[in-house]
Amino acid sequence: MSREIQVILNGTKRQWTVDPKECLLDILRRHAFVGAKRGCDDGECGVCTVLLNGNPVRSCMTPAVEVDGKRITTIEGLSQDGELHPIQQAFIDTGAIQCGFCTPAQILTVKALLDRNPNPSDVEIREAMSGVLCRCTGYVRTVAAIKRAARIMRGEPVEDPLFLQQTLPSDMENLEIPEAYYRRDGDISPLPPLVLHPHDMTKTGVVGKPLPKVDGLKLAQGRPVFTDDVHPAGMLYAELVTSPHAHARIKNIDTSQALALEGVHAVLTHHDIPRIKYASGGQSYPQPLPYDQVCLDNKVRHVGDRVAVVAAETPALARKAARLIKVDYELLPAVVDPIEAFQDGAPVIHDEPDTEGIFDPKHNIVYHIDEAVGDVDTAFANADHVLEGEYRTPKQQQAHLEPHVCITYWDEDDRLVIRTSTQVPFHIRRMVAPLVGLPVKRIRVIKPRIGGGFGNKQEMILEDLCAHLTLATGRPVRMEYSRKQEFTSSRSRHPQIMRYKVGVSGGKVIAAELRLIGDTGAYGSHGLTVQMVGGFKGLTLYNPPNARFLCDVVYTNTPPAGAFRGYGAMQCQFGVEVLMEEIAERLGLDVIEFKRTNWLKVGEPMHLAKKLGEGREGFEQAIESSGLDECVAIGLKVTDFTAKRQTYRDQQGKSLRRGIGMSVMMHGSGIAGLDMAAATLKMNDDGSFNLLLGATDIGTGSDTILAQIAAEVLGIPAEDFIVYSSDTDFTPFDKGAYASSTTYISGGAVHKAALKIREQICQHAATMLKFHDPAQLKLENRKVFSPDGQSVTLAQVALSSLHQENQHQIMATASHMSYKSPPPVGAQFAEVLVDTESGQVNVERLLMVVDCGRVINPLTAAGQVEGGLAQALGFALFEEMLYDPKGKPLNTQFSSYHILKSNEAPPLDVIFVQTDEPTGPFGAKSVAEIPMDGVSPALVSAIHNATGVWVRTLPITPERLWHAVNQQAPGS
Ligand code: FES
Repeated sequence: MSREIQVILNGTKRQWTVDPKECLLDILRRHAFVGAKRGCDDGECGVCTVLLNGNPVRSCMTPAVEVDGKRITTIEGLSQDGELHPIQQAFIDTGAIQCGFCTPAQILTVKALLDRNPNPSDVEIREAMSGVLCRCTGYVRTVAAIKRAARIMRGEPVEDPLFLQQTLPSDMENLEIPEAYYRRDGDISPLPPLVLHPHDMTKTGVVGKPLPKVDGLKLAQGRPVFTDDVHPAGMLYAELVTSPHAHARIKNIDTSQALALEGVHAVLTHHDIPRIKYASGGQSYPQPLPYDQVCLDNKVRHVGDRVAVVAAETPALARKAARLIKVDYELLPAVVDPIEAFQDGAPVIHDEPDTEGIFDPKHNIVYHIDEAVGDVDTAFANADHVLEGEYRTPKQQQAHLEPHVCITYWDEDDRLVIRTSTQVPFHIRRMVAPLVGLPVKRIRVIKPRIGGGFGNKQEMILEDLCAHLTLATGRPVRMEYSRKQEFTSSRSRHPQIMRYKVGVSGGKVIAAELRLIGDTGAYGSHGLTVQMVGGFKGLTLYNPPNARFLCDVVYTNTPPAGAFRGYGAMQCQFGVEVLMEEIAERLGLDVIEFKRTNWLKVGEPMHLAKKLGEGREGFEQAIESSGLDECVAIGLKVTDFTAKRQTYRDQQGKSLRRGIGMSVMMHGSGIAGLDMAAATLKMNDDGSFNLLLGATDIGTGSDTILAQIAAEVLGIPAEDFIVYSSDTDFTPFDKGAYASSTTYISGGAVHKAALKIREQICQHAATMLKFHDPAQLKLENRKVFSPDGQSVTLAQVALSSLHQENQHQIMATASHMSYKSPPPVGAQFAEVLVDTESGQVNVERLLMVVDCGRVINPLTAAGQVEGGLAQALGFALFEEMLYDPKGKPLNTQFSSYHILKSNEAPPLDVIFVQTDEPTGPFGAKSVAEIPMDGVSPALVSAIHNATGVWVRTLPITPERLWHAVNQQAPGS
């Protein structure tokens, strides 16, 4: 029975008719107050937070009838007379916003905090913010933003710098690092990122500045920018029916009761959709075989697998219809352990005859890789020492706070529009087309703002089914995953079992072998490419000339693994880094010296680069820039590593023990010879530009840094660019946001397009100035100058070229690809306090010193590092998707699958050691994924320093560590 309620919403009286079952979040979003988001099913994530009578509440858990007569504040009510609230402004200025999905909830929570406590401590801030999860930031810039806002609201001057910079002397001995980076015990305040410039690095104007994100304003205001914030008229709601069984054949489906419900417009099963095989991983054409999926199948291979899909007038009706579908299953034995999966007699997961390209279907081995360089066996035979180690890593969920969500509809020209939260709009268009029987030209994919992806949206998850429903009904359809479905029916990180063997002679690694088992779950998806990247990075960090990679990728009856930031490299570098530490200990070598002797250096060829491309043969590559020596030296210095290491080693006997550890790592910048991006620049009458990007900003700030690159070339502020990404109808092609490629590859395209524009401007300006040589003209401060002192403004050039003289559009498109993927490199330091009685590890500091080439924007780059460190910390210590022996998932909500909260995050510090990568735009390499790579081995190193035990299986849960400490004599 509906009820009338009255509320004061953002200072205005409102009357609403509400259903007793509705929550406040539903009402707000129904009335277009979409700043409050839905991120989970059980009130754990907090992104729905609004203020009720001034106090933060989870609007998804607040019955609408209970807010009768109360005062509600949403993000839409925070700005006054068009003026941002100081908290909103501080979030923009400090880089506290990445994807922005959690931002309205965070800002409102801060508002309540500062209203009751104008001068909170760091601890109080972190406690107050712990109710709103953020998967992007690591909370460092958030705390900095809150402290800044608090000072402004108290009327105090804001003196804290957004970043610090310093010149790297040619002699590292003379390097002075600011005192704050030495961190005293107990200091948890956020540090600004420190950017170190080589003394001979060219100066830049806009590149290198901590500019606010171009989308910061709308995200801080909670404007309707995400996929689900705007609904077309007449939209239906989809509900997916998923399998409760890990392995079963569908004998019969009865949809009659569901279809009989009034308001249900379609129920689709495998009987209704053509059986067209595909691979769901969003990768370049042609995607690696096998194509082992169909939109809806007559067999299910994991709990959460697709069974049927419904479209109905309301979400509640769609859910009711889904419950009425009767499925008769023939249960099959399931296998969830990757080693059991390839034994003789294991259940065969893909027995369908129409899938080609599975290496050994009877043993569930989807891919087998056997690649080598040099003479590995001889090198091992001749080595002074051959040492081995086995390491295991878990299945981790991406846990982006915006779930997968997609809206499909026919436009006025009978073209199918797919508005979707994706990292790969162009791949989605190409992949959906054959499945729905439309040519590519009849599909348009629009990518709005994305609430985080981390690889999970480099996949076709909902788009095909949502499109089928629009085809079946002729109506717009919205489809969204619940949080539980994110765990059961999207993608995750591949669990891996690694066995490394390393041959050492005279302190030099002369041979290495990696035998890897990768668990791809029920479908192949990114199974081949993730393991190839892992094998390449794991065997290239120390780059022995004799190296072998042997890998089996196996199916299990668990949800498919896919792309996840770190993409195999983080797993394999965990293994090799821990083994290098173990070897140093066993051989009595200084671990830093041992690593330094062996790590990849400038000028060296990467021996496996050609053998291990990404899903295909790669290209020969050598290292052209590396600041690894400097990264390690700086980290050692500011953590006082050597002294602490010795002190902590001597503390055996106490139950609370400190430890310090380090690791080194490398990543890549795009996929050599495979990635391509394009960008278009178009000049407007006022001298501003449209920058049209196929590159997909998923919260990383890529729209901003790409504008900075263009601005640097054209001598104008970045604010003169109207950046738009991405829409397959209007923006040029880009393969999407993955493989740490946007700065390097898409940045290369923007750089080239801007150079073409500069040339066109100079040519036109030369005519206007009657100057003979356009090449001698210079662009600066929105003007074109000739050497003889004349100038015209860009606005004059624009007006002249569009309306007056030799009329034409100043416009350019450029595309870029590279046969190189220069590795960013870095050093990770970790300090821990271990309670040997409970096995609990308290991380007291993570410091990353990283060379990502030229830092285009210190704030967005620092945000990438801090957020990556936070995700990597979860991977190392507590994140693991668990299953019972029958494949039933055990932790499918944030209440049972823990991700880092603000009051649990340690200080995450970032120092950038810039190098000038000759192949990158303004010397840039990538930064998005490398922070994932070094945290777990650095923590294992620190834990070993504290306890004497080696932990070889992640995550390092208290139980696991307690057993390691109590069953193994320290040092053994
Ligand atoms: Fe917090 Fe993305 S910025 S979830």
